[in-house]
Amino acid sequence: MAWHSVAKTSEVTDGEVIGVEVEGTPIAIYNLDGEYFATHNVCTHAFALLSDGYVDDGKVECPLHQGIFDIRSGKAEEGPVDEDLKTFTVKVEGDELFVQL
Ligand code: FES
Repeated sequence: MAWHSVAKTSEVTDGEVIGVEVEGTPIAIYNLDGEYFATHNVCTHAFALLSDGYVDDGKVECPLHQGIFDIRSGKAEEGPVDEDLKTFTVKVEGDELFVQL
């Protein structure tokens, strides 16, 4: 496993999500009250990018069929989703975000 630089902290504002790609893997990076989290960016139900979804109260809602996942754990919580999202460890160094993959 290696750390990959994925974004500047300023690119992911509080309550937002952005999509990045690390070695061909689509990753969603979230900012929850100044803490950063990362999950796989593709919904486990069908094909939709969670970085196009809505972040609220530590959850992300899929834009396609409104499946809901817990951002910290990746747990599938509501809607048509029953498979959890893979999560990745994030670290901050200075103003840069790294994801372990
Ligand atoms: Fe995400 Fe269906 S594609 S809930």
